[in-house]
Amino acid sequence: MSAAVVQPLAFPEGSQINFGASVSGVDVENLTDADFDVIRSALFTHQVVVFKRQSHVTPRAQFELTRRFDPAAAAAYGHGATLDAKRSVLHPDLKTIPHQPQVQVIGNGFVAEYEGLRNITLRHPHHRTFHATAVPDAEDLDYTRFYRWHIDAALYGSGLAPPVVTTLLAVRVPAGRTQVCRYDDGTGDALRVPLGTTAFVSGSAMLDQLSSADRALALSTRVEYAPHPYIWMSGAKSRPDGLGMVSEGKEVPLDELPAIDEAQIQILPMVWRNPVTNELALQIHPSAIRKLHLADGSVVDDLAEVREIVHRLQRPGIAPGLVYAHDWEEGDLVLFHNRGVLHSVVGAFAEHEVRLFRQCNVAGSSLPLGPDVVAAAA
Ligand SMILES: [Fe+2]
Repeated sequence: MSAAVVQPLAFPEGSQINFGASVSGVDVENLTDADFDVIRSALFTHQVVVFKRQSHVTPRAQFELTRRFDPAAAAAYGHGATLDAKRSVLHPDLKTIPHQPQVQVIGNGFVAEYEGLRNITLRHPHHRTFHATAVPDAEDLDYTRFYRWHIDAALYGSGLAPPVVTTLLAVRVPAGRTQVCRYDDGTGDALRVPLGTTAFVSGSAMLDQLSSADRALALSTRVEYAPHPYIWMSGAKSRPDGLGMVSEGKEVPLDELPAIDEAQIQILPMVWRNPVTNELALQIHPSAIRKLHLADGSVVDDLAEVREIVHRLQRPGIAPGLVYAHDWEEGDLVLFHNRGVLHSVVGAFAEHEVRLFRQCNVAGSSLPLGPDVVAAAA
């Protein structure tokens, strides 16, 4: 028997958010199998699971909890060794805990010592470094954007399936204020968010927004991701809503990337099936897409066209009413189903606002299930 209590998150009346839960009554440092079964079920049912007051959790316990969702995983960090490439857009944002290398430290500001890391300066990613346009400097503390909607995944490499789960622990959180997150895409959409929130949207809610024709397209199309996608995209810039790139021909040419092994290129379904609930989710990493493989065998390889199609499919799913913006408190441990949600960093910190988080995921041991593959009872 587990004493774990799962409680769906409460949202203001009228909210369309239909995911997220809190879990209490468990000791993450000493999880029983019964506790873990409850947590696993909660994750696949609610997609985002929040544990409060977990500052005491060690990097090892965080890693072990993360790995328990995919025991056959090789325990390699979700991006494998690809972060070694200095040109990757991911490189500046992560530092590795020396004694638990699958756990990364992310955040903002100067930290003198933490878990064997000394005199580190963390930098919260700012959209001006990734977007084609930016909120003007004078408005920068009040207004912000979604930095980059994504799935945590290497998307290249035969041994690097998208991680099942990512865990995030808030170790230090600066005093709260709010910002307005603007979409800046001509719609006028905006969302008031806590400073430095992590924003989540449900892939199944995203799928539910589609017309029947677009749903049929999504169910039958596979996405080919770019080789070395985070280096490939490093020359290009994002749309203002953080949902994919603008097409200006600025991607790093293929012959200037590290050697490409065609067998390592990942071609994944657009729609992934939840292995516990069988729920379908539209799961596309929009900035790494390169080609679409359609049901009739044809391939859409015009990058601008590929991006327009995917943006049309995904944009309704990030409407303000569908975004869960987690309001971080120190000690929050958040698990998210990386194969059922998209997420984005949000916000701009001042230099003195020190924030420290721990993040962990491990590359999946197998690829996500496509829409036609019904999972065996889990
Ligand atoms: Fe992420």
